[in-house]
Amino acid sequence: MAIIRLTEDDKKIEKEALSELSEYYGAMSARLGRHVTYEVLTYGCQLNESDSEKLSGMLEEMGLSPKTDDSTPDVLILNTCAVRENAEDRLFGNLGVYKSDKKQNRDMTIAVCGCMMKVPENVDRIKRSYPYVDLVFDPQHLYHFPSLLRDTIRSKKQLINIGSADYIAEDDFCSIDRKRKFRALVPIMYGCNNFCTYCIVPYARGRERSRSFDSIVEELNIIADQGFKEVMLLGQNVNSYGKGNEDGKTFADIFEAACNIKGFSRVRFMSSHPKDLNNRVIDIMRDYPNAEKHLHLALQSGSDRLLKSMNRPYTSRQFFDIADYFRKEVKGGSLTTDIIVGFPGETEEDFVKTLEAVEYCKFDSAFTFQYSKRPGTPAASYKDQVPSDVVSERFSRLLELQNDLAYKSNQAKVGLTEEILIEGQSKQQPGIYTGRTLSNHLVNFTLPAEPAQDVKDDLEGRLGMVRIDYARPYSVDGELVRFTDG
Ligand code: SAM
Ligand code: SF4
Ligand code: F3S
Repeated sequence: MAIIRLTEDDKKIEKEALSELSEYYGAMSARLGRHVTYEVLTYGCQLNESDSEKLSGMLEEMGLSPKTDDSTPDVLILNTCAVRENAEDRLFGNLGVYKSDKKQNRDMTIAVCGCMMKVPENVDRIKRSYPYVDLVFDPQHLYHFPSLLRDTIRSKKQLINIGSADYIAEDDFCSIDRKRKFRALVPIMYGCNNFCTYCIVPYARGRERSRSFDSIVEELNIIADQGFKEVMLLGQNVNSYGKGNEDGKTFADIFEAACNIKGFSRVRFMSSHPKDLNNRVIDIMRDYPNAEKHLHLALQSGSDRLLKSMNRPYTSRQFFDIADYFRKEVKGGSLTTDIIVGFPGETEEDFVKTLEAVEYCKFDSAFTFQYSKRPGTPAASYKDQVPSDVVSERFSRLLELQNDLAYKSNQAKVGLTEEILIEGQSKQQPGIYTGRTLSNHLVNFTLPAEPAQDVKDDLEGRLGMVRIDYARPYSVDGELVRFTDG
């Protein structure tokens, strides 16, 4: 597959489509006597979320407004995920619902994009059973969305655009509608070359390609000027950033550059792969006060035999060495992970090694998954698939152990007063606010006195010290002592 950098001509074409569509939607708004609206539904990871922010940005440039009530949007985009079967089930479950909406609003456009569209069976199913879907495109064609949407509207026929090229574009081409006031998502690279044998991502997202160091730093400076306090550097394997670029810059260079930008109180990243993580990244976490003291490092399995069969080129001992170094250098930091239970061939002995590894690393939290067979991946054709009752039973045992460790990690916070970045108000419990510590622990807190409405409305993205006085399995409770940002 070819990696293609978007040219100025490509961008010009998309800009022209954008302005054509803004005229089209302007006329539609005048005809309907109301705003033309959009909704982007995100089913996947933070990279998907970041793509959705770009799609929303393009739609806003076309003059559309986000839908704010129960009405049907005029443009609906479903940005899908294929990582596990349940993410796919959710899409097909939801798609049927929109059939009647489409009947009532003939101007409505329904687009489906994201990783699921790189699986041919899914596209065939849409062609066969969902003729009211107007546009289908893959993640690599995100930047072609304006021209694809224009062509769909012009042709009034279902348009399927799935290609084989892996595009890369810097983000200066369209505006980004950043959904969270406190956090900016910044992809530094796209795709993945690791081909873990269970994983669909390399097929869905294509070959690994890194943005240029200069364009990333430029975007970081813009974000800081816009007042974002937290930045999240994104990639499937951020530690292999820069391969194929000529300037020799590595992920550690980007991480450090971000930490040096005044205005960022939190610099985070996701995800890193044990085979590529180097100590310099951990040293930066230790040395910079605004570097998040949180390392998310996927273990997947504690059995060296299974790691090999997963094509994860590290041993549990190598993983432990990283964990030990992190614990030694980043005091009070949190180590989190991803684990798959029931990978083909997993024996009780392999699983016990996973439990032992979890016990050794004392993960502060973990995303635990039951293995899901992904068509087209090598592991899907492995003979020794584990029966589902065995997987469920092991999964419960892992959860029990990990829940206990997460609870202990939260208990260790009780009595401390730590700075948190406030994320918002609890929807279920009035008077309760949420935020995260620098170690990414979730904190639910109260304020000493009910603040004025304008202070309340402005809490998201503020920093403050919270006295932590109670631990729960997945969070801690506390009270705000004072704001630290003036
Ligand atoms: N690139 C990241 C890394 O290697 O750390 C992982 C990204 S992937 C989107 C998130 C997690 O989904 C993986 O770490 C893995 O635990 C899980 N996952 C991926 N494929 C899976 C599958 N077929 N079944 C179950 N879990 C899976
Ligand atoms: Fe999937 Fe492995 Fe790539 Fe992560 S590193 S996205 S698990 S193939
Ligand atoms: Fe899903 Fe694609 Fe992310 S498969 S997890 S949305 S990279």
